Amino acid sequence: MRIALLSKEEYKEGSVKSYIEDLVGSLRNLFSSSTKVTIDTRIEDFNLSSKTLFALGIIVNELITNAMKYAFDEKSGGSIQVFLSKKESHVRLTIQDNGRGLPEDFALEEAKGFGLTLVKMLCQQVGGSYLIENREETGGTKSILKFKVKKSSA
Ligand SMILES: Nc1ncnc2c1ncn2[C@@H]1O[C@H](COP(=O)(O)OP(=O)(O)OP(=O)(O)O)[C@@H](O)[C@H]1O
Ligand SMILES: [Mg+2]
Repeated sequence: MRIALLSKEEYKEGSVKSYIEDLVGSLRNLFSSSTKVTIDTRIEDFNLSSKTLFALGIIVNELITNAMKYAFDEKSGGSIQVFLSKKESHVRLTIQDNGRGLPEDFALEEAKGFGLTLVKMLCQQVGGSYLIENREETGGTKSILKFKVKKSSA
């Protein structure tokens, strides 16, 4: 697994929007040879604790890396979208691609890779739920992480 993490001082507590957008910017550079894959973000602006930001960063890193590694043909490319929203105290992170979808025998409970195991552990750490499924309309995969924060920040 390749890591492009941001752990600068200014992120002790801060804007989830700038943290995730900066991270996605680093990942775009890291994967810049795969020019046919676009990564778009739509991220609401609110603050989270550094602990939660750090966990989200690892999760976003792993899920984008997986999409880059498995979802697309080198020639045809595709798109990855990262959405993050908050309604009252409920935060939802969605990362989706329009690639080939999960292998037929895939089962999240039995996922053997280190990456998704880590994603599940980090979701537990933030007290959230995680699922990954195939998208019926467009093809590809969709990961959804939901967790709750206190009203002001996590
Ligand atoms: N976006 C995706 N599109 C298609 N298949 C995927 C996608 N994400 C994950 N997979 C499948 O799920 C498997 C498990 O992923 P996981 O991240 O746990 O392990 P890995 O990427 O193979 O290894 P590691 O993360 O340790 O480098 C992958 O091997 C791949 O087959
Ligand atoms: Mg992986």
